[in-house]
Amino acid sequence: MSVHSNPVVSVRGLSKSFVGKTVVSGVTFDLFAGEALALVGENGAGKSTTKNMLCGLLTPTTGTILVNGQTVPKVIGAEHGISAVHQELSLFGSLSVAENICISDLPGAKMRVDWAAAERIAQEQIAFLGIEIDARALVETLGAGKQQIVEIAKALLHASKVLILDEPTTSLTAVEREKLFVIIDKLKARGLAIVFISHFMEEIYRVCDSFVALRDGCQVGQGRLAEVSQRSLEEMMVGRTLEDARVNLAAPSQTPALEVRGLSSSDFKDINLTVHRGEILGIAGLMGAGRTEIAEAIFGLRAAVGEVRIDGKAVPRDVSAMMASGLCYVTEDRRKNGLFLNRPVRENLSAAHIAGFVQRKLRGFGFRGEKARAHDLVSDMNISVPHIENNVSDLSGGNQQKVMLGRWLATNPEILIFDEPTKGVDIGAKFDIHEKIAALAATGKAIIIVSSDLPELLHITHRMLVMRKGRIVGEFLRSDFDSVKIISLAASSNEGGQDAA
Ligand SMILES: Nc1ncnc2c1ncn2[C@@H]1O[C@H](COP(=O)(O)OP(=O)(O)OP(=O)(O)O)[C@@H](O)[C@H]1O
Ligand SMILES: [Mg+2]
Repeated sequence: MSVHSNPVVSVRGLSKSFVGKTVVSGVTFDLFAGEALALVGENGAGKSTTKNMLCGLLTPTTGTILVNGQTVPKVIGAEHGISAVHQELSLFGSLSVAENICISDLPGAKMRVDWAAAERIAQEQIAFLGIEIDARALVETLGAGKQQIVEIAKALLHASKVLILDEPTTSLTAVEREKLFVIIDKLKARGLAIVFISHFMEEIYRVCDSFVALRDGCQVGQGRLAEVSQRSLEEMMVGRTLEDARVNLAAPSQTPALEVRGLSSSDFKDINLTVHRGEILGIAGLMGAGRTEIAEAIFGLRAAVGEVRIDGKAVPRDVSAMMASGLCYVTEDRRKNGLFLNRPVRENLSAAHIAGFVQRKLRGFGFRGEKARAHDLVSDMNISVPHIENNVSDLSGGNQQKVMLGRWLATNPEILIFDEPTKGVDIGAKFDIHEKIAALAATGKAIIIVSSDLPELLHITHRMLVMRKGRIVGEFLRSDFDSVKIISLAASSNEGGQDAA
Protein backbone atom coordinates (compact mmCIF):
# COMPACT_ATOMS: atom_id res chain seq x y z
CA MET A 1 0.00 0.00 0.00
CA SER A 2 1.48 3.33 -0.94
CA VAL A 3 -0.74 5.91 0.76
CA HIS A 4 -1.61 5.26 4.36
CA SER A 5 -4.85 6.17 6.02
CA ASN A 6 -4.87 6.85 9.74
CA PRO A 7 -3.57 4.07 11.94
CA VAL A 8 -6.24 2.03 13.77
CA VAL A 9 -3.93 1.48 16.71
CA SER A 10 -0.64 3.15 17.59
CA VAL A 11 1.80 2.44 20.36
CA ARG A 12 4.23 5.09 21.56
CA GLY A 13 7.22 4.40 23.76
CA LEU A 14 5.78 1.25 25.26
CA SER A 15 7.90 -0.18 28.09
CA LYS A 16 7.45 -2.93 30.63
CA SER A 17 9.49 -3.83 33.70
CA PHE A 18 9.11 -6.82 35.98
CA VAL A 19 10.53 -6.33 39.46
CA GLY A 20 13.00 -3.75 38.27
CA LYS A 21 14.07 -5.60 35.12
CA THR A 22 13.05 -3.86 31.91
CA VAL A 23 12.04 -6.43 29.30
CA VAL A 24 10.42 -4.08 26.76
CA SER A 25 11.63 -0.56 26.20
CA GLY A 26 10.37 2.27 24.02
CA VAL A 27 8.46 0.26 21.43
CA THR A 28 6.72 2.49 18.90
CA PHE A 29 4.70 1.52 15.84
CA ASP A 30 1.41 2.01 13.98
CA LEU A 31 -1.08 -0.59 12.83
CA PHE A 32 -3.09 0.04 9.68
CA ALA A 33 -6.32 -1.55 8.53
CA GLY A 34 -5.68 -4.26 5.98
CA GLU A 35 -2.00 -4.62 6.81
CA ALA A 36 0.06 -7.17 8.69
CA LEU A 37 2.96 -6.16 10.90
CA ALA A 38 5.62 -8.72 11.81
CA LEU A 39 6.99 -8.57 15.33
CA VAL A 40 10.35 -10.32 15.15
CA GLY A 41 13.15 -11.06 17.58
CA GLU A 42 14.98 -13.89 19.30
CA ASN A 43 13.60 -15.85 22.24
CA GLY A 44 13.06 -13.47 25.11
CA ALA A 45 13.27 -10.32 22.96
CA GLY A 46 9.91 -9.10 24.31
CA LYS A 47 7.47 -10.03 21.54
CA SER A 48 4.88 -11.73 23.73
CA THR A 49 5.17 -9.05 26.38
CA THR A 50 4.47 -6.39 23.73
CA LYS A 51 1.49 -8.43 22.56
CA ASN A 52 0.17 -8.69 26.11
CA MET A 53 0.31 -4.92 26.55
CA LEU A 54 -1.39 -4.40 23.20
CA CYS A 55 -4.36 -6.60 24.09
CA GLY A 56 -4.69 -5.39 27.66
CA LEU A 57 -3.34 -8.41 29.54
CA LEU A 58 -0.43 -6.40 30.91
CA THR A 59 -0.37 -2.73 31.87
CA PRO A 60 2.59 -0.89 30.34
CA THR A 61 5.06 0.56 32.84
CA THR A 62 5.34 3.62 30.58
CA GLY A 63 4.09 4.56 27.14
CA THR A 64 0.73 5.05 25.51
CA ILE A 65 -1.62 3.12 23.27
CA LEU A 66 -3.92 5.02 20.92
CA VAL A 67 -7.02 3.49 19.38
CA ASN A 68 -8.38 5.47 16.41
CA GLY A 69 -6.13 8.34 17.40
CA GLN A 70 -7.43 8.52 20.98
CA THR A 71 -5.27 7.63 23.96
CA VAL A 72 -6.86 4.82 25.95
CA PRO A 73 -5.99 4.74 29.65
CA LYS A 74 -6.27 0.96 29.72
CA VAL A 75 -6.78 -1.35 26.78
CA ILE A 76 -9.71 -3.71 27.18
CA GLY A 77 -9.23 -6.20 24.41
CA ALA A 78 -12.83 -7.14 23.68
CA GLU A 79 -14.06 -3.55 23.94
CA HIS A 80 -11.41 -2.09 21.68
CA GLY A 81 -11.63 -4.85 19.10
CA ILE A 82 -8.10 -6.10 19.81
CA SER A 83 -7.77 -9.82 20.27
CA ALA A 84 -4.89 -12.27 20.44
CA VAL A 85 -4.07 -15.90 19.86
CA HIS A 86 -1.51 -16.63 22.51
CA GLN A 87 1.64 -18.63 22.13
CA GLU A 88 0.48 -21.22 24.61
CA LEU A 89 -2.95 -22.72 24.13
CA SER A 90 -5.51 -21.46 26.62
CA LEU A 91 -8.37 -23.86 26.00
CA PHE A 92 -10.36 -25.96 28.44
CA GLY A 93 -9.88 -29.56 27.40
CA SER A 94 -13.00 -30.87 29.08
CA LEU A 95 -15.27 -28.33 27.38
CA SER A 96 -16.59 -28.54 23.84
CA VAL A 97 -15.21 -26.59 20.91
CA ALA A 98 -18.36 -24.40 20.93
CA GLU A 99 -18.07 -23.68 24.66
CA ASN A 100 -14.42 -22.73 24.26
CA ILE A 101 -15.02 -20.43 21.31
CA CYS A 102 -17.96 -18.62 22.90
CA ILE A 103 -16.69 -18.78 26.46
CA SER A 104 -16.40 -15.06 27.14
CA ASP A 105 -19.74 -14.22 25.58
CA LEU A 106 -22.17 -17.13 25.58
CA PRO A 107 -25.36 -16.39 23.61
CA GLY A 108 -28.74 -16.53 25.31
CA ALA A 109 -30.91 -14.48 27.63
CA LYS A 110 -31.82 -14.34 31.32
CA MET A 111 -29.12 -16.67 32.61
CA ARG A 112 -29.96 -19.30 30.03
CA VAL A 113 -27.35 -20.23 27.53
CA ASP A 114 -28.61 -20.87 24.03
CA TRP A 115 -26.40 -23.86 23.27
CA ALA A 116 -27.76 -24.31 19.77
CA ALA A 117 -26.77 -20.72 18.99
CA ALA A 118 -23.32 -21.21 20.55
CA GLU A 119 -22.78 -24.27 18.40
CA ARG A 120 -23.95 -22.39 15.33
CA ILE A 121 -21.62 -19.44 16.02
CA ALA A 122 -18.70 -21.77 16.66
CA GLN A 123 -19.38 -23.86 13.57
CA GLU A 124 -19.57 -20.68 11.46
CA GLN A 125 -16.21 -19.50 12.78
CA ILE A 126 -14.60 -22.87 12.06
CA ALA A 127 -16.18 -23.10 8.63
CA PHE A 128 -14.76 -19.66 7.84
CA LEU A 129 -11.33 -21.01 8.75
CA GLY A 130 -11.90 -23.87 6.30
CA ILE A 131 -11.00 -26.76 8.65
CA GLU A 132 -13.30 -29.63 9.57
CA ILE A 133 -13.95 -29.74 13.30
CA ASP A 134 -17.18 -30.70 15.07
CA ALA A 135 -18.26 -27.83 17.35
CA ARG A 136 -19.59 -30.39 19.84
CA ALA A 137 -16.32 -32.31 20.16
CA LEU A 138 -14.41 -31.97 23.43
CA VAL A 139 -11.25 -29.95 22.91
CA GLU A 140 -9.09 -32.58 24.64
CA THR A 141 -9.98 -35.06 21.90
CA LEU A 142 -8.41 -32.79 19.26
CA GLY A 143 -4.75 -32.83 18.31
CA ALA A 144 -2.52 -29.82 18.96
CA GLY A 145 -3.04 -28.49 15.43
CA LYS A 146 -6.83 -28.50 15.58
CA GLN A 147 -6.71 -26.95 19.02
CA GLN A 148 -4.72 -24.13 17.49
CA ILE A 149 -7.48 -23.61 14.92
CA VAL A 150 -10.05 -23.45 17.74
CA GLU A 151 -7.90 -20.78 19.44
CA ILE A 152 -7.90 -18.73 16.28
CA ALA A 153 -11.67 -19.09 15.87
CA LYS A 154 -12.13 -17.94 19.46
CA ALA A 155 -9.93 -14.87 19.04
CA LEU A 156 -11.60 -13.91 15.77
CA LEU A 157 -14.93 -13.51 17.55
CA HIS A 158 -13.66 -10.34 19.26
CA ALA A 159 -11.14 -9.05 16.77
CA SER A 160 -12.90 -6.23 14.97
CA LYS A 161 -9.78 -4.07 14.61
CA VAL A 162 -6.64 -5.98 15.43
CA LEU A 163 -5.84 -9.69 15.54
CA ILE A 164 -2.51 -10.65 17.08
CA LEU A 165 -1.13 -14.09 16.29
CA ASP A 166 1.72 -15.22 18.54
CA GLU A 167 3.53 -18.07 16.76
CA PRO A 168 0.29 -19.50 15.39
CA THR A 169 1.83 -22.08 13.07
CA THR A 170 4.04 -24.08 15.42
CA SER A 171 1.56 -26.99 15.57
CA LEU A 172 0.48 -26.75 11.96
CA THR A 173 1.82 -28.65 8.99
CA ALA A 174 2.59 -27.20 5.59
CA VAL A 175 -0.92 -27.62 4.20
CA GLU A 176 -2.59 -26.15 7.26
CA ARG A 177 -0.17 -23.27 7.36
CA GLU A 178 -1.00 -22.37 3.81
CA LYS A 179 -4.70 -22.49 4.72
CA LEU A 180 -4.04 -20.14 7.61
CA PHE A 181 -2.21 -17.72 5.33
CA VAL A 182 -5.17 -17.67 2.97
CA ILE A 183 -7.39 -16.86 5.96
CA ILE A 184 -5.06 -14.05 7.03
CA ASP A 185 -5.23 -12.63 3.50
CA LYS A 186 -9.03 -12.69 3.78
CA LEU A 187 -8.92 -10.95 7.16
CA LYS A 188 -6.65 -8.26 5.76
CA ALA A 189 -9.04 -7.77 2.86
CA ARG A 190 -11.83 -7.35 5.42
CA GLY A 191 -9.89 -4.45 6.91
CA LEU A 192 -8.39 -6.11 9.97
CA ALA A 193 -4.91 -5.10 11.11
CA ILE A 194 -2.77 -8.15 11.89
CA VAL A 195 0.20 -8.45 14.21
CA PHE A 196 2.10 -11.61 13.34
CA ILE A 197 4.77 -13.10 15.59
CA SER A 198 6.84 -15.94 14.14
CA HIS A 199 10.36 -17.33 14.03
CA PHE A 200 9.80 -18.53 10.45
CA MET A 201 11.15 -16.01 7.97
CA GLU A 202 9.30 -17.51 4.99
CA GLU A 203 6.04 -17.02 6.87
CA ILE A 204 6.85 -13.43 7.73
CA TYR A 205 7.57 -12.56 4.11
CA ARG A 206 4.49 -14.48 2.97
CA VAL A 207 2.07 -12.81 5.40
CA CYS A 208 3.37 -9.39 6.41
CA ASP A 209 3.78 -5.92 4.94
CA SER A 210 5.93 -4.26 7.58
CA PHE A 211 8.08 -5.24 10.53
CA VAL A 212 9.33 -4.18 13.94
CA ALA A 213 12.48 -5.94 15.15
CA LEU A 214 13.19 -6.29 18.86
CA ARG A 215 16.41 -7.25 20.57
CA ASP A 216 16.66 -7.51 24.35
CA GLY A 217 13.44 -5.54 24.64
CA CYS A 218 14.63 -2.64 22.49
CA GLN A 219 13.33 -1.73 19.07
CA VAL A 220 16.33 -2.19 16.76
CA GLY A 221 14.61 -1.81 13.40
CA GLN A 222 11.38 -0.99 11.67
CA GLY A 223 10.21 -0.65 8.08
CA ARG A 224 8.63 -2.25 5.04
CA LEU A 225 9.50 -5.90 4.41
CA ALA A 226 9.77 -5.27 0.68
CA GLU A 227 12.78 -3.10 1.44
CA VAL A 228 14.74 -5.47 3.68
CA SER A 229 16.37 -8.78 2.86
CA GLN A 230 15.79 -11.82 5.04
CA ARG A 231 19.44 -11.93 5.95
CA SER A 232 19.58 -8.32 7.13
CA LEU A 233 16.37 -8.80 9.11
CA GLU A 234 17.88 -11.83 10.85
CA GLU A 235 21.07 -9.94 11.55
CA MET A 236 19.04 -7.10 13.07
CA MET A 237 17.42 -9.60 15.42
CA VAL A 238 20.58 -11.33 16.56
CA GLY A 239 22.81 -8.25 16.46
CA ARG A 240 25.66 -9.91 14.59
CA THR A 241 26.42 -11.11 11.11
CA LEU A 242 25.34 -14.64 10.29
CA GLU A 243 27.29 -17.10 8.24
CA ASP A 244 25.88 -19.92 6.22
CA ALA A 245 26.33 -22.98 8.28
CA ARG A 246 25.12 -26.49 7.65
CA VAL A 247 24.98 -29.27 10.14
CA ASN A 248 27.51 -31.95 9.30
CA LEU A 249 26.23 -35.42 10.05
CA ALA A 250 28.59 -38.26 10.84
CA ALA A 251 27.89 -41.57 9.07
CA PRO A 252 25.61 -43.84 11.14
CA SER A 253 26.54 -47.41 12.10
CA GLN A 254 24.77 -50.55 10.88
CA THR A 255 23.93 -51.68 14.41
CA PRO A 256 20.22 -51.46 15.16
CA ALA A 257 19.46 -49.66 18.44
CA LEU A 258 15.68 -49.57 18.31
CA GLU A 259 13.47 -51.89 16.27
CA VAL A 260 9.72 -51.61 16.03
CA ARG A 261 7.86 -54.58 14.58
CA GLY A 262 4.19 -54.73 13.60
CA LEU A 263 3.09 -51.94 15.92
CA SER A 264 -0.64 -51.27 15.52
CA SER A 265 -3.39 -49.40 17.32
CA SER A 266 -6.56 -47.53 16.38
CA ASP A 267 -4.38 -44.60 15.25
CA PHE A 268 -1.79 -46.43 13.14
CA LYS A 269 -1.32 -49.76 11.37
CA ASP A 270 1.58 -52.17 11.10
CA ILE A 271 4.48 -49.86 11.80
CA ASN A 272 7.93 -51.33 11.18
CA LEU A 273 11.01 -49.23 11.65
CA THR A 274 14.62 -49.49 12.73
CA VAL A 275 16.99 -46.80 13.99
CA HIS A 276 20.69 -47.55 14.11
CA ARG A 277 23.32 -46.30 16.51
CA GLY A 278 24.50 -42.93 15.34
CA GLU A 279 21.50 -42.44 13.09
CA ILE A 280 18.96 -39.61 13.03
CA LEU A 281 15.67 -40.82 11.61
CA GLY A 282 12.99 -38.27 10.73
CA ILE A 283 9.27 -38.92 10.65
CA ALA A 284 7.42 -36.50 8.38
CA GLY A 285 3.70 -36.23 7.83
CA LEU A 286 0.66 -34.03 8.25
CA MET A 287 -1.12 -33.23 11.47
CA GLY A 288 -3.16 -36.28 12.41
CA ALA A 289 -0.98 -38.74 10.47
CA GLY A 290 -0.32 -40.63 13.71
CA ARG A 291 3.29 -39.63 14.32
CA THR A 292 2.95 -38.51 17.94
CA GLU A 293 0.76 -41.55 18.65
CA ILE A 294 3.51 -43.88 17.43
CA ALA A 295 6.12 -42.14 19.56
CA GLU A 296 3.84 -42.45 22.57
CA ALA A 297 3.12 -46.13 21.87
CA ILE A 298 6.82 -46.95 21.58
CA PHE A 299 7.52 -45.26 24.88
CA GLY A 300 4.62 -47.08 26.55
CA LEU A 301 2.31 -44.11 27.00
CA ARG A 302 -0.36 -45.48 24.69
CA ALA A 303 -1.93 -48.91 24.20
CA ALA A 304 -0.88 -50.82 21.06
CA VAL A 305 0.06 -54.30 19.90
CA GLY A 306 3.42 -55.17 18.42
CA GLU A 307 7.01 -55.49 19.49
CA VAL A 308 9.73 -53.03 20.44
CA ARG A 309 13.32 -54.25 20.65
CA ILE A 310 16.24 -52.35 22.08
CA ASP A 311 19.71 -53.65 21.24
CA GLY A 312 18.07 -56.79 19.91
CA LYS A 313 16.11 -57.58 23.07
CA ALA A 314 12.33 -57.28 23.32
CA VAL A 315 11.35 -54.69 25.94
CA PRO A 316 7.85 -54.48 27.43
CA ARG A 317 6.17 -51.29 26.31
CA ASP A 318 6.06 -49.66 29.68
CA VAL A 319 7.55 -46.28 30.50
CA SER A 320 9.81 -47.42 33.33
CA ALA A 321 11.07 -50.43 31.35
CA MET A 322 11.76 -48.19 28.37
CA MET A 323 13.60 -45.62 30.45
CA ALA A 324 15.61 -48.38 32.15
CA SER A 325 16.59 -49.62 28.68
CA GLY A 326 17.92 -46.17 27.79
CA LEU A 327 15.02 -44.75 25.78
CA CYS A 328 13.77 -41.25 26.34
CA TYR A 329 10.87 -39.36 24.79
CA VAL A 330 10.81 -35.56 24.65
CA THR A 331 7.18 -34.60 24.14
CA GLU A 332 5.63 -32.10 21.79
CA ASP A 333 3.49 -30.29 24.33
CA ARG A 334 5.85 -28.78 26.88
CA ARG A 335 3.01 -27.33 28.94
CA LYS A 336 0.79 -30.34 29.23
CA ASN A 337 3.28 -33.19 29.36
CA GLY A 338 6.60 -31.70 30.12
CA LEU A 339 7.24 -28.78 32.39
CA PHE A 340 6.23 -27.90 35.93
CA LEU A 341 5.43 -24.27 35.22
CA ASN A 342 5.15 -23.05 38.75
CA ARG A 343 8.41 -24.61 39.86
CA PRO A 344 11.90 -23.18 39.51
CA VAL A 345 14.06 -23.76 36.46
CA ARG A 346 16.48 -25.69 38.68
CA GLU A 347 13.87 -28.29 39.65
CA ASN A 348 12.61 -28.60 36.09
CA LEU A 349 16.12 -29.30 34.88
CA SER A 350 16.71 -32.02 37.43
CA ALA A 351 13.25 -33.62 37.32
CA ALA A 352 14.35 -36.55 35.16
CA HIS A 353 17.47 -37.17 37.19
CA ILE A 354 16.33 -36.95 40.83
CA ALA A 355 17.77 -40.33 41.77
CA GLY A 356 21.18 -39.11 40.62
CA PHE A 357 21.28 -36.54 43.41
CA VAL A 358 20.34 -38.83 46.24
CA GLN A 359 23.46 -39.38 48.29
CA ARG A 360 23.12 -42.83 49.77
CA LYS A 361 26.08 -42.58 52.08
CA LEU A 362 25.01 -39.23 53.48
CA ARG A 363 21.34 -40.20 53.43
CA GLY A 364 20.41 -36.91 51.90
CA PHE A 365 19.71 -35.01 48.75
CA GLY A 366 22.63 -33.35 47.00
CA PHE A 367 21.24 -29.86 46.61
CA ARG A 368 24.68 -28.50 45.80
CA GLY A 369 25.14 -30.99 42.98
CA GLU A 370 21.70 -30.23 41.69
CA LYS A 371 22.39 -26.51 41.65
CA ALA A 372 25.76 -26.86 39.97
CA ARG A 373 24.26 -29.02 37.27
CA ALA A 374 21.40 -26.60 36.72
CA HIS A 375 23.95 -23.80 36.21
CA ASP A 376 25.89 -25.96 33.75
CA LEU A 377 22.77 -26.79 31.77
CA VAL A 378 21.61 -23.17 31.66
CA SER A 379 24.90 -22.11 30.13
CA ASP A 380 25.23 -25.21 27.95
CA MET A 381 21.74 -24.80 26.48
CA ASN A 382 22.08 -21.03 26.39
CA ILE A 383 18.88 -20.57 28.40
CA SER A 384 18.05 -16.94 29.04
CA VAL A 385 16.82 -16.75 32.64
CA PRO A 386 17.77 -14.22 35.34
CA HIS A 387 18.21 -16.96 37.96
CA ILE A 388 17.81 -20.73 38.20
CA GLU A 389 15.28 -20.15 41.01
CA ASN A 390 12.91 -18.29 38.66
CA ASN A 391 9.78 -20.22 37.80
CA VAL A 392 9.60 -21.72 34.33
CA SER A 393 6.37 -19.75 33.73
CA ASP A 394 8.46 -16.53 33.70
CA LEU A 395 10.53 -17.74 30.74
CA SER A 396 9.83 -16.92 27.13
CA GLY A 397 8.39 -19.78 25.06
CA GLY A 398 11.63 -20.72 23.35
CA ASN A 399 13.53 -20.75 26.60
CA GLN A 400 10.93 -23.07 28.14
CA GLN A 401 11.58 -25.44 25.26
CA LYS A 402 15.31 -25.35 25.97
CA VAL A 403 14.69 -26.22 29.63
CA MET A 404 12.77 -29.30 28.57
CA LEU A 405 15.45 -30.41 26.12
CA GLY A 406 18.17 -29.75 28.68
CA ARG A 407 16.41 -31.89 31.23
CA TRP A 408 16.37 -34.94 28.97
CA LEU A 409 19.74 -34.48 27.35
CA ALA A 410 21.29 -34.47 30.81
CA THR A 411 19.96 -37.94 31.60
CA ASN A 412 22.32 -39.28 28.97
CA PRO A 413 19.93 -41.70 27.25
CA GLU A 414 21.02 -44.06 24.46
CA ILE A 415 17.96 -43.60 22.28
CA LEU A 416 16.02 -40.34 22.02
CA ILE A 417 12.67 -39.63 20.46
CA PHE A 418 12.06 -35.91 19.93
CA ASP A 419 8.58 -34.70 19.09
CA GLU A 420 8.79 -31.22 17.52
CA PRO A 421 12.10 -30.39 19.25
CA THR A 422 12.39 -26.80 18.06
CA LYS A 423 8.79 -25.70 18.29
CA GLY A 424 8.82 -21.97 19.06
CA VAL A 425 12.61 -21.75 19.16
CA ASP A 426 14.42 -18.84 17.46
CA ILE A 427 16.96 -19.24 14.66
CA GLY A 428 20.01 -19.01 16.88
CA ALA A 429 18.68 -21.50 19.40
CA LYS A 430 17.39 -23.79 16.68
CA PHE A 431 20.84 -23.95 15.21
CA ASP A 432 22.24 -24.76 18.69
CA ILE A 433 19.72 -27.55 19.17
CA HIS A 434 20.42 -29.04 15.74
CA GLU A 435 24.13 -29.01 16.48
CA LYS A 436 23.47 -30.73 19.79
CA ILE A 437 21.35 -33.43 18.19
CA ALA A 438 24.00 -34.04 15.51
CA ALA A 439 26.69 -34.23 18.19
CA LEU A 440 24.64 -36.77 20.16
CA ALA A 441 24.28 -38.93 17.05
CA ALA A 442 28.00 -38.66 16.39
CA THR A 443 28.64 -40.25 19.80
CA GLY A 444 26.52 -43.25 18.80
CA LYS A 445 23.10 -42.32 20.14
CA ALA A 446 20.10 -43.32 18.04
CA ILE A 447 17.62 -40.52 17.43
CA ILE A 448 14.09 -40.23 16.06
CA ILE A 449 12.73 -36.78 15.25
CA VAL A 450 9.05 -36.18 14.62
CA SER A 451 8.65 -32.75 13.09
CA SER A 452 6.18 -30.76 11.03
CA ASP A 453 9.01 -28.46 10.02
CA LEU A 454 10.14 -30.17 6.83
CA PRO A 455 13.22 -27.95 6.32
CA GLU A 456 14.30 -29.04 9.79
CA LEU A 457 14.02 -32.73 8.89
CA LEU A 458 15.82 -32.17 5.58
CA HIS A 459 18.57 -30.42 7.48
CA ILE A 460 19.16 -32.75 10.38
CA THR A 461 18.22 -36.34 9.47
CA HIS A 462 20.05 -39.21 7.76
CA ARG A 463 16.83 -40.86 6.66
CA MET A 464 13.17 -39.92 6.62
CA LEU A 465 9.93 -41.90 6.84
CA VAL A 466 6.77 -40.29 5.53
CA MET A 467 3.47 -41.07 7.22
CA ARG A 468 -0.05 -40.67 6.02
CA LYS A 469 -3.17 -41.67 7.89
CA GLY A 470 -1.45 -43.99 10.33
CA ARG A 471 0.77 -45.76 7.80
CA ILE A 472 4.34 -45.38 6.63
CA VAL A 473 4.00 -44.52 2.94
CA GLY A 474 7.54 -43.65 1.98
CA GLU A 475 11.20 -43.69 2.94
CA PHE A 476 13.97 -41.37 1.74
CA LEU A 477 17.71 -41.39 2.28
CA ARG A 478 19.46 -38.06 2.82
CA SER A 479 21.03 -38.32 -0.62
CA ASP A 480 17.54 -38.54 -2.19
CA PHE A 481 15.68 -35.97 -0.10
CA ASP A 482 13.11 -34.20 -2.25
CA SER A 483 10.76 -31.85 -0.43
CA VAL A 484 8.17 -31.76 -3.21
CA LYS A 485 7.93 -35.55 -3.31
CA ILE A 486 7.78 -35.79 0.47
CA ILE A 487 5.02 -33.21 0.78
CA SER A 488 2.90 -34.77 -1.93
CA LEU A 489 3.33 -38.25 -0.41
CA ALA A 490 2.33 -36.94 3.01
CA ALA A 491 -0.67 -35.04 1.68
CA SER A 492 -1.74 -37.73 -0.81
CA SER A 493 -3.60 -37.07 -4.02
CA ASN A 494 -6.71 -39.19 -3.56
CA GLU A 495 -8.20 -37.47 -0.54
CA GLY A 496 -10.96 -34.92 -0.88
CA GLY A 497 -10.01 -31.50 0.47
CA GLN A 498 -6.36 -32.33 1.16
CA ASP A 499 -4.61 -30.12 -1.31
CA ALA A 500 -0.90 -30.69 -1.48
CA ALA A 501 1.02 -27.54 -0.62
N1 LIG B 1 5.93 -12.35 34.46
C1 LIG B 1 7.24 -12.20 34.22
N2 LIG B 1 8.11 -11.96 35.22
C2 LIG B 1 9.43 -11.79 34.98
N3 LIG B 1 9.98 -11.80 33.75
C3 LIG B 1 9.17 -12.02 32.71
C4 LIG B 1 7.75 -12.22 32.87
N4 LIG B 1 7.21 -12.41 31.65
C5 LIG B 1 8.22 -12.32 30.77
N5 LIG B 1 9.40 -12.08 31.40
C6 LIG B 1 10.72 -11.93 30.76
O1 LIG B 1 10.61 -10.96 29.74
C7 LIG B 1 11.47 -11.27 28.64
C8 LIG B 1 10.68 -11.20 27.35
O2 LIG B 1 9.78 -12.31 27.30
P1 LIG B 1 8.76 -12.53 26.09
O3 LIG B 1 7.90 -13.67 26.49
O4 LIG B 1 8.09 -11.25 25.77
O5 LIG B 1 9.74 -12.96 24.91
P2 LIG B 1 9.40 -13.40 23.41
O6 LIG B 1 10.05 -12.41 22.52
O7 LIG B 1 7.95 -13.60 23.26
O8 LIG B 1 10.21 -14.77 23.29
P3 LIG B 1 9.84 -16.20 22.58
O9 LIG B 1 10.23 -16.09 21.16
O10 LIG B 1 10.74 -17.17 23.28
O11 LIG B 1 8.39 -16.46 22.82
C9 LIG B 1 12.06 -12.63 28.93
O12 LIG B 1 13.37 -12.46 29.40
C10 LIG B 1 11.18 -13.19 30.03
O13 LIG B 1 11.91 -14.06 30.87
MG1 LIG C 1 6.80 -15.28 22.98
